[in-house]
Amino acid sequence: MVQYQRLIKKGERLRVSVEEGGSGATAVAVSGGGYFKSTKQKFLSIIFLSFLCCCYIFSFSSFSLLDAFNRESEGFGPYEPFIAPLCSGIPNGTICCDRAGFRSDVCIMKGDVRTHSASSSVFLYTSLKNKSKTPQKVKPYTRKWETSVMQTVQELNLVYRDDNSSLSGNEHDNNICDVLYDVPAVFFSTGGYTGNVYHEFNDGIIPLFITSHHFNRKVVFVIVEYHSWWVTKYGDIVSQLSDYPPVDFNGDNRTHCFKEAIAGLRIHDELTVGSSLMLGNKTILDFRNVLDRAYWPRIRGLIQDEEIEAANKTGKRIQEDGLLKRPKLVILSRNGSREILNENDLVDLAEEIGFFVEVLRPDKTTELAKIYRCLNSSDAMVGVHGAAMTHLLFLKPRTVLIQIIPIGTEWAAETFYGGPAKKMKLKYIGYKIKPKESSLYDEYGNDDPIIRDPKSFTRKGWEYTKKIYLERQNVNLDLKRFRKPLSRAYDFSVKRFGPVYSIH
Ligand SMILES: *[C@@H]1O[C@H](CO)[C@@H](O)[C@H](O)[C@H]1NC(C)=O
Ligand SMILES: *[C@@H]1O[C@H](CO)[C@@H](O)[C@H](O)[C@H]1NC(C)=O
Ligand SMILES: *[C@@H]1O[C@H](CO)[C@@H](O)[C@H](O)[C@H]1NC(C)=O
Ligand SMILES: *[C@@H]1O[C@H](CO)[C@@H](O)[C@H](O)[C@H]1NC(C)=O
Ligand SMILES: *[C@@H]1O[C@H](CO)[C@@H](O)[C@H](O)[C@H]1NC(C)=O
Ligand SMILES: *[C@@H]1O[C@H](CO)[C@@H](O)[C@H](O)[C@H]1NC(C)=O
Ligand SMILES: *[C@@H]1O[C@H](CO)[C@@H](O)[C@H](O)[C@H]1NC(C)=O
Ligand SMILES: *[C@@H]1O[C@H](CO)[C@@H](O)[C@H](O)[C@H]1NC(C)=O
Repeated sequence: MVQYQRLIKKGERLRVSVEEGGSGATAVAVSGGGYFKSTKQKFLSIIFLSFLCCCYIFSFSSFSLLDAFNRESEGFGPYEPFIAPLCSGIPNGTICCDRAGFRSDVCIMKGDVRTHSASSSVFLYTSLKNKSKTPQKVKPYTRKWETSVMQTVQELNLVYRDDNSSLSGNEHDNNICDVLYDVPAVFFSTGGYTGNVYHEFNDGIIPLFITSHHFNRKVVFVIVEYHSWWVTKYGDIVSQLSDYPPVDFNGDNRTHCFKEAIAGLRIHDELTVGSSLMLGNKTILDFRNVLDRAYWPRIRGLIQDEEIEAANKTGKRIQEDGLLKRPKLVILSRNGSREILNENDLVDLAEEIGFFVEVLRPDKTTELAKIYRCLNSSDAMVGVHGAAMTHLLFLKPRTVLIQIIPIGTEWAAETFYGGPAKKMKLKYIGYKIKPKESSLYDEYGNDDPIIRDPKSFTRKGWEYTKKIYLERQNVNLDLKRFRKPLSRAYDFSVKRFGPVYSIH
């Protein structure tokens, strides 16, 4: 209650508009005029509101009061020990940064938080009784150890402001709330390596889940280095994590006010969620459930469209049903480097073994929902090591992933995808190619150190791995050799479903 009284005191100076939720149920309910969820809640709220006995408050904070009720009934505990352990239990009116993480710094601000994008700042209004309250700086991106990319990331200044000055009538110093929220904010950057699907999930979306899931969507995302394409591409997921439209920090110079903020994202490991580090022991499979909910509406729409179309052309469906009786193998196809040069022969082999084969060639513009649909309905996926392997997150647990590992990429393949695949409960098979299966063999021959001793190059640094082994290598699979992992994948799939599939 303290906070609402305070607002009223300042009320005359605030231009307050409560931002309505985005696509979430809350927003729908608000705009429909019937926010109250149950008569009991309604009753309680009325008592509480009459107690406050002030219509003015009702005009802008009924939304907030009810949120407070909902939050209490959901009963989540303090999140700080999971997000910024060193900041556990910080009092209201303080800024605290936990810089102990290897991959990211995370700061928490409690109290009267207001954005000031012109100075790339977030202010915390508090009475400055203690002069040692020093400002903090943070780059809200999760690759702290990579100085070169961090240099490109925008820094946020987290600054204490004297509470008095906002009442002093000094317009210059005054930061009037244009948009007031009764929920916390999470600030993060979509700069850095954003643009590469691995980094988008690893450095962005998964850490966002880790940092915000416990708010049950009652959180606003404030995006530094905002890209509208990113919001388009990841909107389905973002709206599963937040009921509010994301704020473009640099592009929207209005003052957004929160009662609490997290600047920076917590990250655990490559493409995963460490459940022992999560409130409620959430795992990477909980993250996958978020994906499933995110993509379901779009996928249902696609299915409906197809059904309508198929109803027009009878015969087509029967044929498809016949094919789907077999386990489905998706070949994730690359173009440019690390291509499978004999991909057509691989398709033939997989069909001969008994798979129904789908070749997926995602590019930057392919809708993620379509990729999800394809992989969520598959029993196995094959692909050459590379960023597109990130889509292993779309595979159902207990399905098979075969990663083809070109020469010189063993470490990266295992670290970035092999390990995460196991944590996803996938049946993971790493297929290390023999020198003769590499296009570099034709180029350099058996005796060249590039073929004989890749480690002598890769240990010199990532740049060498990239230039020699990632950018210029293609794969010509020895299909006699590859038949073995593929048959294993087939047997595993058939066993998993038993009589569902007709065995050939
Ligand atoms: C926290 O502090 C802010 C200002 O620093 C104040 O507006 C708010 O009422 C305080 N909240 C609580 C719960 O004490
Ligand atoms: C001021 O802050 C410093 C460090 O945050 C703390 O050690 C000190 O006790 C504080 N002093 C008062 C008077 O609150
Ligand atoms: C700031 O507020 C405190 C108490 O709230 C008051 O004692 C002090 O005089 C104020 N300072 C200014 C500059 O208004
Ligand atoms: C915010 O941006 C608008 C349009 O870009 C501009 O007219 C306005 O002066 C800006 N306000 C502030 C406080 O910078
Ligand atoms: C989470 O896991 C820990 C240790 O494995 C266990 O002690 C705790 O009860 C679990 N909490 C929940 C909510 O499942
Ligand atoms: C993914 O597959 C599961 C099991 O086949 C299904 O229940 C679920 O609805 C699918 N998800 C989407 C988004 O289509
Ligand atoms: C069936 O096809 C015709 C012509 O191709 C089209 O006009 C009609 O709208 C289609 N019906 C449905 C249900 O899609
Ligand atoms: C590979 O990509 C290039 C450009 O990105 C495109 O022009 C070419 O058609 C693609 N090739 C295949 C086989 O998809």
